[in-house]
Amino acid sequence: IPFQRLGLMGNLLKVLACAELEHGPIVFLDFEHAQPTEAETAVWNQVSAVLEEAHGILAELQSYNGAGQEIREAIQNPGDLALQEKAWNAVCPLVAKLKRFYEFSLRLENALRSLLEALTSPPYAPMQHLEREQALAKQFAEILHFTLSFDELKMTNPAIQNDFSYYRRTISRNRLNNQQVEYKSGENEVNNEMANRMSLFYAEATPMLKTLSNATTKFVSENKTLPIEDTTDCLSTMACVCRVMLETPEYRCRFTNTDTMLFCMRVMVGVIILYDHVHPVGAFAKTSKIDMKGCIKVLKEQPSNSVEGLLNALRYTTRHLNDDSTSKQIRALLQ
Ligand SMILES: *[C@@H]1O[C@H](CO)[C@@H](O)[C@H](O)[C@H]1NC(C)=O
Ligand SMILES: *[C@@H]1O[C@H](CO)[C@@H](O)[C@H](O)[C@H]1NC(C)=O
Repeated sequence: IPFQRLGLMGNLLKVLACAELEHGPIVFLDFEHAQPTEAETAVWNQVSAVLEEAHGILAELQSYNGAGQEIREAIQNPGDLALQEKAWNAVCPLVAKLKRFYEFSLRLENALRSLLEALTSPPYAPMQHLEREQALAKQFAEILHFTLSFDELKMTNPAIQNDFSYYRRTISRNRLNNQQVEYKSGENEVNNEMANRMSLFYAEATPMLKTLSNATTKFVSENKTLPIEDTTDCLSTMACVCRVMLETPEYRCRFTNTDTMLFCMRVMVGVIILYDHVHPVGAFAKTSKIDMKGCIKVLKEQPSNSVEGLLNALRYTTRHLNDDSTSKQIRALLQ
């Protein structure tokens, strides 16, 4: 099905884009099949190299079981050196994994930056960018999808912080006792500075999302020539497109894969949270360009187990929900 071309140009488009979407098919982001055009190729290749790893990272996190048992035994038997060593040997490879995840977040941050640059570059309006650069929009969506999936897994896995703090405690105890570390931590050793940065990362409830929102805020503040609205409009437009795709039966049935629905939901929630962190008054204010009521309603209508998790993400990882400017109605919807 060919995409209908936009007739409107310029600033008017920004204002009308969402209203127009309500009344007819303007942009259907082809999340399933979008292929890069020539103009998109350079950025697309760069981001693609990062995204190729994302699946493996999620699989690794999913199967992350932690060393709770070994750590417990070591703590309960502080005099038993064999148990100390066993716990240490169990924790080290896990910390190497945590380091890989953290390092991946830095690569993801760079990828996001490249996408933001491409999707906000003049002279095009956000809707035009999304329409012209569907493959990049899809990658942006994939990054958000990965991010929410990662954070969901992290949030439900207390072993991560437990393992990491055991690792740090063991190192500092050895240092304090001026003790020779009898057991090697292996080639994946995490130096102190790295350990500090990893601690900050894993202390976040939603570390990947926080990384992305920090990066987006940084992108906006570093680039003085680029009005903040260019970035936030890109986000609100994406939220709008996702919402309309979820709301509209004729779009929904174009998804050949039910996972695409979940994908769309995650992306919508992801851009809302980013918008709320980056925009000075956030996503819940009356002046917000995101129809929060519509987004929450459509989310609640989806027959998916993931809805509650996504609503929780809106409840607990946004910045402005509890501001006075948030309407009672929106609050009630999220209650
Ligand atoms: C600022 O934004 C413009 C337009 O998107 C872009 O060409 C330029 O590279 C950006 N500069 C920085 C430092 O990101
Ligand atoms: C995000 O930025 C804040 C403030 O600069 C910082 O304290 C926090 O550690 C950062 N989080 C991540 C995950 O980068």
